[in-house]
Amino acid sequence: MSVISIIGAQWGDEGKGRIVDYLATDADVVIRYQGGDNAGHTVVNEYGKFALHIVPSGIFNPKAISIVGVGAVVNFDTMQGELAGIPAELHRNLRIDVRAHLIMPYHCLLDGAEEARRSAHDKIGTTKRGIGPCYSDKAAREGIRAGEILDPEGLRAHLEKILPKKNRELEYYGLQQFTVDELMDKCAYWAKIFGSRIVDTIPIVREATACKDSKVVLEGQLGIMRDLDWGIYPYTTSSNPTSGGAANVSGIAPNRITDIIGVTKAYSTSVGGGPFVAELFDDDGKKLREIGAEYGATTGRPRRCGWLDAVALDYSSYINGFTSIAVTKMDVLDTFDEIKVCEAYDIDGKITRYLPDTKGQEKAKPVWKVFKGWKCDTTGCRKWEDLPKEAQEYVKAIGEYAHCPVSYVSVGPEREQIIIL
Ligand code: GDP
Ligand code: IMO
Ligand code: MG
Repeated sequence: MSVISIIGAQWGDEGKGRIVDYLATDADVVIRYQGGDNAGHTVVNEYGKFALHIVPSGIFNPKAISIVGVGAVVNFDTMQGELAGIPAELHRNLRIDVRAHLIMPYHCLLDGAEEARRSAHDKIGTTKRGIGPCYSDKAAREGIRAGEILDPEGLRAHLEKILPKKNRELEYYGLQQFTVDELMDKCAYWAKIFGSRIVDTIPIVREATACKDSKVVLEGQLGIMRDLDWGIYPYTTSSNPTSGGAANVSGIAPNRITDIIGVTKAYSTSVGGGPFVAELFDDDGKKLREIGAEYGATTGRPRRCGWLDAVALDYSSYINGFTSIAVTKMDVLDTFDEIKVCEAYDIDGKITRYLPDTKGQEKAKPVWKVFKGWKCDTTGCRKWEDLPKEAQEYVKAIGEYAHCPVSYVSVGPEREQIIIL
């Protein structure tokens, strides 16, 4: 039995979707365990190109059961729209856990209004998908769980209790309010479309993990640097994309997780507010954005770009306990004369390789190490030996910064553009 946890090692968008798609080709179960449709996981395979927001990237394996897990927050409207673009024969094995929380229309409105109220410096840059307000309700024990839409009487009683408070919040922001009947109608529609897929997923997961030859893939959303506890708080999401978070909400105990693969780009990107020490404001930054097509898969926003931040990667590997890392988007660096890595931070004249909290990161200046570029096309490389010497040196250095072996190097967005080590 193998349980492979795929974790974003940076600020999100590392290429988790494409690694999950690759690993899921022979998986039995794939679990999207946290987050919601703030995600944009791009997958390019024989079915086409997809930016998946809430549907697990394992959906393309018709033999695998794809689970939207306990720790996820689900917008069924998004899910319906997304499934419409995926061949119908692949939908069969999608399940949603009864305990996953529902993103309600008021969550999306409140997310946008709360963001608008923040000053320019304080903006988190949320995706406005209702993620924060939905997780807030979960923590306040006022959330609505997927299973509740299967019990209209109980759901009505729950909505009657919580809606007056929600409407007061909406009124405070001058927003549209909702009636219980309106929301009941919406939930009834969702139940009609998705009701048969809303199940207790623990028996599925338990059966898979009891079988000696099975393979389970845990698909993380976002990355550690925007983890609610370990990221650049308050510029974070509202869940835990780290490996500890994965074990907590996947229904698989930590001692059953066999591999923790951190996914890192060969450089860095970040979408939204908060510190980003290795950010580039020069032509190299623009070049990374254009060659890497660094525009958000969910919001289309230009991603902030920078060189690899080895200080953040060291921290990421420590907190997550990576057993190996996957280095993506190596090909994006093909034309650079020089490639830099932020090896340390200079904070008020003191050099450190230890990642400080948000305030420390806001003050930090990057200390660069320069690597020689390889200046040739790597998109056709399929074996380690195919990579130019300078690219091999760079990948080895990334493994050293992460203190673990490199298991995959990707050299293009397509499924087969990957080197397995
Ligand atoms: P995720 O959120 O971690 O799944 O990553 P995203 O899908 O948001 O962003 C990764 C982007 O890089 C997508 O557009 C992918 O198609 C693309 N991508 C992934 N791996 C590679 C690679 O090795 N080379 C190139 N050029 N693009 C890649
Ligand atoms: P994937 O799974 C990159 C960022 C937002 C914002 C912060 C909080 O594709 O890697 P939220 O909507 O979660 O309340 O926003 O987190 N963010 C992402 N950045 N990739 C994502 O997902 C993201 N999901 C959220 O830009 O700064
Ligand atoms: Mg993404």
